[in-house]
Amino acid sequence: MPLIKWHDAYSVKNEILDNQHKSIFNLLNSLYDSCMSNTVYFTYNSILDELTRFTKKHFATEEKHLKEIGYGNIEEHLKEHREFENIMNNVFASEPNNYDNCKELLVFVADFILHHVIVIDRNYSE
Ligand SMILES: [Fe+2]
Ligand SMILES: [Fe+2]
Repeated sequence: MPLIKWHDAYSVKNEILDNQHKSIFNLLNSLYDSCMSNTVYFTYNSILDELTRFTKKHFATEEKHLKEIGYGNIEEHLKEHREFENIMNNVFASEPNNYDNCKELLVFVADFILHHVIVIDRNYSE
């Protein structure tokens, strides 16, 4: 069973950004599968790396969109994106192969992404 499931109610009413959010959910589910299985040693770091890189790409697309629509709360939104990037960079800098604490990290990452996509991102769609 996947960790998180996409619902239409999560839409930010932009197809490209919705599809990127769905991909992030899928990567998060892959990270969860890896964490829970005995293949964690082989897959964990590459999935985490892909999640970090794809999230960065998504932030760039989303920030371009926010500028285009003249979103008023952009500074605060960008601050959250940078915060997440910094934390993910630190994860790799300090513990490059630490699948031992993958559950702990997964809870943090899933919590941030879910809250950001479902609550924070949806503010700009209205
Ligand atoms: Fe987003
Ligand atoms: Fe965002």
